Amino acid sequence: MKVIEIKNLTKKFKTGYGIFDINIEVKAGEVYGYLGPNGSGKSTTIRHIMGYLKPQAGSAHIFGKDAWLESNLIQNDLGYLPGEIAFPEYNSGIDFIKMIFNLREQTNWDYVEELINYWEFDPNVKIKKMSKGMKQKVGLVIAFMHKPKLLVLDEPTNGLDPLMQEKFISLILKEKAAGTTVLMSSHIFAEIEKTCDKVAIIKSGRIISDVEMNKLKLKSDRKYEIEFVDSKVLKEYLYKNSKTKHLYKIPYDQVDDFFEKLKKFNIKDFNEIPFSLEEYFLDFYKKEEKQGGIKNV
Ligand SMILES: Nc1ncnc2c1ncn2[C@@H]1O[C@H](COP(=O)(O)OP(=O)(O)OP(=O)(O)O)[C@@H](O)[C@H]1O
Ligand SMILES: [Mg+2]
Repeated sequence: MKVIEIKNLTKKFKTGYGIFDINIEVKAGEVYGYLGPNGSGKSTTIRHIMGYLKPQAGSAHIFGKDAWLESNLIQNDLGYLPGEIAFPEYNSGIDFIKMIFNLREQTNWDYVEELINYWEFDPNVKIKKMSKGMKQKVGLVIAFMHKPKLLVLDEPTNGLDPLMQEKFISLILKEKAAGTTVLMSSHIFAEIEKTCDKVAIIKSGRIISDVEMNKLKLKSDRKYEIEFVDSKVLKEYLYKNSKTKHLYKIPYDQVDDFFEKLKKFNIKDFNEIPFSLEEYFLDFYKKEEKQGGIKNV
């Protein structure tokens, strides 16, 4: 079943910026990463999913319902973390969490406490006095507390320290194992790489690449760093070299050939450089400028 289906979604603001012809499909249980630089259109897309913005052209359907016209029918199954959180500053975190808890007519307060303990923060502090990370944690508790079938998270680890970023990844993996569908935007490659089944890259309001992580890893260049015993060094596939270390970059379908050739050399040290989404992303940007993009790897 398609939990999110966005078709040809377009919204051009008066400034000329916006999103153009966006297509996204997220199936039940999938974790979908939405990557892109500042101002590329991530939050604008997400606001359409939430039914806060009316599409100029195209549509967004959530659980088969129109996100703009039937927004009220979707909310119970949807947990949302906004990119810029605007809380009423006069209450404490816990007052605000309770308010939303009651509005959502929830009964499982134990789970709320579990989430607060998980995020290791004091919710009794006035929101006005909370640090950025603490506010983000309040937002995360609110997004998760009604155990929604779909989580839409706009830069969820914004303001979280590295330890908390790791905890966030663990929580998403737990939700994924439980069958929750997730769409999250991010600038942080590691969290996307560790959690997502699919990744789309948006630039200047257009999706320039959408890929499945498995296929991407499978079809990406392999990289090895090799130190040889003597000056006899394999010249083919050589990408970069320093005095001792030699870095090789091999297209995924030529790895056998590479190892065959490598047999003739004496190796002192051998390391595989793991796939990095960050590197792919940066590589991709360069390629995109030259070739006009790769779609659907
Ligand atoms: N309500 C609005 N009115 C006019 N322009 C807008 C509006 N909302 C967004 N934009 C413009 O649309 C573009 C996309 O903005 P958006 O907030 O979606 O980017 P983003 O990818 O979420 O960026 P960031 O990573 O900084 O959060 C920007 O150029 C922004 O200025
Ligand atoms: Mg944003």
